[in-house]
Amino acid sequence: MAKQEDFFKKVISHAKEYGYIFQSSEIYDGLSAVYDYAQNGVELKKNIRNYWWKAMVQLNDNIVGIDAAILMHPKTWKASGHVDAFNDPLIDNKDSKKRYRADVLIEDYCLKIEKKITKEVAKAQKRFGESFDKAEFISTNQRVLGYQEKIDAILSRMGKSLENEDLADVKLLIEELGIADPLSGSKNWTDIKQFNLMFGTKLGADEATATDLYLRPETAQGIFVNFANVQKTGRMKIPFGIAQTGKAFRNEIVARQFIFRMREFEQMEMQFFVKPGDDQIWYEKWKENRINWHKSLGLGEEKYRFHDHEKLAHYANAATDIEFDFPFGFKELEGIHSRTDFDLKAHQEHSGKKLQFFDHTTNSSYVPYVVETSVGLDRLFLAIFSTALENEELEDGSSRIVLKLPSILAPTKIAILPLLKKDGLPELATKIVDDLKFDFQVTYDEKDAIGRRYRRQDANGTPFCVTVDHQTLEDKTVTIRYRDSMKQERISISEISSIVAKEISFKKWINN
Ligand code: GAP
Repeated sequence: MAKQEDFFKKVISHAKEYGYIFQSSEIYDGLSAVYDYAQNGVELKKNIRNYWWKAMVQLNDNIVGIDAAILMHPKTWKASGHVDAFNDPLIDNKDSKKRYRADVLIEDYCLKIEKKITKEVAKAQKRFGESFDKAEFISTNQRVLGYQEKIDAILSRMGKSLENEDLADVKLLIEELGIADPLSGSKNWTDIKQFNLMFGTKLGADEATATDLYLRPETAQGIFVNFANVQKTGRMKIPFGIAQTGKAFRNEIVARQFIFRMREFEQMEMQFFVKPGDDQIWYEKWKENRINWHKSLGLGEEKYRFHDHEKLAHYANAATDIEFDFPFGFKELEGIHSRTDFDLKAHQEHSGKKLQFFDHTTNSSYVPYVVETSVGLDRLFLAIFSTALENEELEDGSSRIVLKLPSILAPTKIAILPLLKKDGLPELATKIVDDLKFDFQVTYDEKDAIGRRYRRQDANGTPFCVTVDHQTLEDKTVTIRYRDSMKQERISISEISSIVAKEISFKKWINN
């Protein structure tokens, strides 16, 4: 546990030190759960967004993208159910005066039990060595089965009670489990109350006549209200999808764990409109499609798992999370929801406008069902960044800090390094930069010894270093060094571009 926490602290400090993420308004001591993306962070974030956009929009001829406004007509949020039901169950500790999400307290309790399972597995692995079969152990070991049963029973009861709005039972569960305030250790809890997460704002200069608006808590509604516009102008036929990426805002009460849970964050969402009755088939297809997309990044298959929802949101008839093994354990990375016709029907009722699809084959109209895929860009950033960060022990007994970002996502692709700051090497290196920068994000670095510069680029996540030396002046060859293997090769200057392009080819990565 302490090891995990230490590592997570390292992730946060590395993100700052190498210009990935800063606390928002840091000079004023920061704003809680709001972060700024720095010079490298903005590039990594943009590359992740592009990787998603290409896979969703460019590769699917039946998916198109939009960019709807953050501010929407206030009726949108009444229709979507957010005004009435976008709540978190909050509980206060009477002694510490601290406020918590009741469901998070219970989930954290379960996480502790899960850690016991992990410990049992690690112990057994050590005992049995090579012959250890993890899957079999988990499904047969009595102690592990007991822990898992306990987790399932707790989460199932919580899910049912939340679904039935039985907040008294959720409180009872907290008391029965003996859950204490993580800070003070006190078990003196208030009753649980619902708290709406939307940020309000006003449109108009005059207080008295201004319209109350909300900052959107999800990007999805911008897609639903544009359904008919896109369908008609794009002459889209069911099944088809609309994708968008953009900011969303939630007044999160338990905002912690760095960029995992923020108050201002970015979502990448796709709503896939299908014929009623086909929804479960598409739900399964999108589950598979999305987990494969995640796995294509090469962070490790064991890092992902599905978690089907016990408590379904007010709009869903099936829902699952793709969970990722973050430095603080498995947590939701992406949601896949079968949203039925809830949203389009609700917007139809509230707007009085038809949101239907006319099927020429049957000469009839219907309100399509929707399968949604929704991933948090910041959360994905954290998943990728934290998995990439390694303190690697080297064969010679030394170690290096390396950020093994998937090369297709790395902010800087190539660092061009003149071996010395003289003899025309900087000039030649600059020429190479000027040539490559049209196609790649390239950096130039001439400060410090070459070994230190390699280490700096390793820690920065740059997949390729190219060193220009005296031989380059004679035969136009350079040394290319690969970040992950640290292998070095002599190649001609004209080969740099094709080597890098091949390594960061979208086709290669997505078909991984
Ligand atoms: N349109 C459906 C929807 O918004 P959600 O499960 O509430 O569903 C989808 O959010 C994804 O957005 C989550 O899986 C997560 O990755 C991301 N997300 C949600 N709240 C977030 C927050 N406060 N900070 C960062 N990411 C968040």
